[in-house]
Amino acid sequence: MKLFSFLAALLLPVVGANASSLESVLVPLPVSVEETSAAPVVLKVGPPVIESWDESLDIQTASYFFTAMKKHFGSDELPLAGAKIIFKGGFYGDDVYGRTGGYWLTIGDGEIRITSRTHSGQFYAIQTLLQLLPRTPDANGEIVLPPCKIRDYPRFSWRGFMLDSVRHYQSPEWIKKLIDVLASQKINVLHWHLTDDQGWRIEIKKYPQLTAKGAWRSHIGFGLKPEQSSYYDADGNYGGFYTQEQIREIVRYAAMRGITIVPEIELPGHALAALAVFPQLGCTGGPYEVGLKGGVFDDVYCAGNEAVYAFLEDVFEEVVALFPSKFVHVGGDECPKLRWRNCPKCQAKIRSENLKNEHGLQSYVIRRMEKFLAGKGKRLIGWDEILEGGLAPNATVMSWRGATGGIAAAKLNHDVVMTPNSHCYFDYSQARTGEPNGIGGFIPLDRVYKFNPTEGVPTEFAGRILGGQANLWTEYIPDEKHAEYMIAPRISALAEVLWTPKERLSWDNFQDRMDAQYARYEAAGFNYRKPDGVLIRAVSGGVSFSPDLKDAPIVYTLDGSEPVADSPRATAGNYIVKIPEGATNVRVRARAVLRDGSLGRLNERVMNLPKAKVISTLGSVEANFPERAADGSRTSIYWGDRVPHPGDTVSAIFDKLQHAKRVRCITGKNENGGGGDRLVHGVLEMSEDGTVWRELAAFEDGIAEATLPEGTRFKALRLRVTGRQDEWLVVREFECER
Ligand code: ACM
Ligand code: ZN
Repeated sequence: MKLFSFLAALLLPVVGANASSLESVLVPLPVSVEETSAAPVVLKVGPPVIESWDESLDIQTASYFFTAMKKHFGSDELPLAGAKIIFKGGFYGDDVYGRTGGYWLTIGDGEIRITSRTHSGQFYAIQTLLQLLPRTPDANGEIVLPPCKIRDYPRFSWRGFMLDSVRHYQSPEWIKKLIDVLASQKINVLHWHLTDDQGWRIEIKKYPQLTAKGAWRSHIGFGLKPEQSSYYDADGNYGGFYTQEQIREIVRYAAMRGITIVPEIELPGHALAALAVFPQLGCTGGPYEVGLKGGVFDDVYCAGNEAVYAFLEDVFEEVVALFPSKFVHVGGDECPKLRWRNCPKCQAKIRSENLKNEHGLQSYVIRRMEKFLAGKGKRLIGWDEILEGGLAPNATVMSWRGATGGIAAAKLNHDVVMTPNSHCYFDYSQARTGEPNGIGGFIPLDRVYKFNPTEGVPTEFAGRILGGQANLWTEYIPDEKHAEYMIAPRISALAEVLWTPKERLSWDNFQDRMDAQYARYEAAGFNYRKPDGVLIRAVSGGVSFSPDLKDAPIVYTLDGSEPVADSPRATAGNYIVKIPEGATNVRVRARAVLRDGSLGRLNERVMNLPKAKVISTLGSVEANFPERAADGSRTSIYWGDRVPHPGDTVSAIFDKLQHAKRVRCITGKNENGGGGDRLVHGVLEMSEDGTVWRELAAFEDGIAEATLPEGTRFKALRLRVTGRQDEWLVVREFECER
């Protein structure tokens, strides 16, 4: 009921395709959709008549067809009688440049004809047909499909999605649900992150301890509350794993849907769960524990120990038998070299193999694994750090730290999958405020739609770019509903930019077609992010609104009060609102007016903040620089690059004296304080001159705040660490309420 009323608020009724808007329900958009002069196809309730010419339809596809149609119509009574459904082999556009999945779908003159040489092409034709079919017949009990000819094939051969099942486990049932959604968007690779510091999730028959022990940690970790997940064993250990039987079933289910599962077994770093089980495989010999927090751990496989290679080869022996995928992912990212520098075995290996240094040793590990995998008929793929110290001869690079690594690899004639954290990291938030707790970073839907895997790649090397991929790291995503929210609708934008020819891409047109896609997420019970927010962008002299729901009017306030129906409005074509000159600390709050007149979620942004410099005694993790702790947004974070020690400080120094009724400092992974990486022992302090400091309040559950007496003036605020803690430090914001 609740879902339906929301849909009614958001969407115009979607009643399948009509002659003028065939394309308007299709995501991703096909290569070409042509209306023809054939007679429309009129379907009635009754079983379909399916013909297979040149025996092109296999039993599995036929069985999938019936399953999918029954699910679509929510009934065993299929309204598919009245036309012949024909499967036919052959299509010249298939397999062009190795991109399988092309098809023709022709509707008219009593036929629905699917032409494709490959299983995946037939499967995609069925997906397109499903998108064209309404869920129920019209008032006459009929479904009328306009005559048309759809010609389609993908732009890229790698249209991927990575699921991190380590930081938090997901059930096999849910992974199948995910596969259904991915397949409906013509995604064809599920990159499955199965081992890492915080767990070993794949059963290996030769080493049962890997999952008996390594799949479990003592606590949910990441500063999360135990009740945020239900994956505990009888002794209260947190985690889980996939048996080989479950994996085979998931691989089969995915293959039926045109999806290849690429397994990732991380090496030489991100290996703490394995080391916890086999401490002799680390440089120091341990003891080690399955990780409870994120980031990068110094303890990695000892690259000087032959037993490590024997172990990894045993593991990969079983992995390659489980996954038919040509590619096997070996991680390769974020491997600190500290232990190797101090390890006699590692240093001996560097000498005996004539390697330059520890980077050479990393390269040696990857080359050795590549050779082993090649012997099994497999191709190695790894994160872009595998470029460091020299790329293995046939390795494929997955470029995540921007596109630079990918471009460099392409120029060396290596294959590349682009997954830059500027566009493809689905663990980043979808809006600046009002989002679930996340890892920091900000990638809204329109940013994903701007992703172009070949951008910056010289034309002669563009063919090396196999495609792109979105990654869902799950540190702060402990449950499956939350994962769904992070995946959809962004996966639709990703799918379209990887499938549809570049010259057909249009953000404007995509937004229109997404109405139909939202209805499909709704029908699938997939917890997509509703398009009911407003992005508030800073522009010269004011702000500009971008509603999630195209052209929705916006109600807003500039005085911090709640926007209501009769608040000032901004409308399509004029979304820019000026902020009075000289006004500081202006809290802009806005809501979209949805199609039924109700108001969407509240978004806000503080503009014209007093200028402040933020100085920290810690460095920063990636682009989470100190100034993000005084940028008016709790969503953007400053993230210190190590555990804070007593005496460490983070200070916001204003360029003019400030006044405020109340001041506050928010730390931790939760937007409203607390969670992982919060300040455990510390105080908030104030200074009039930037040198003499006065204590205002102690931190409690990540927040410190204080009311200031009238007339107080201050030049700076700072947090000072007063005790030891295990976790790193996230400072979300210094806030001043005037
Ligand atoms: C990565 O995000 N460390 C590949
Ligand atoms: Zn070592």
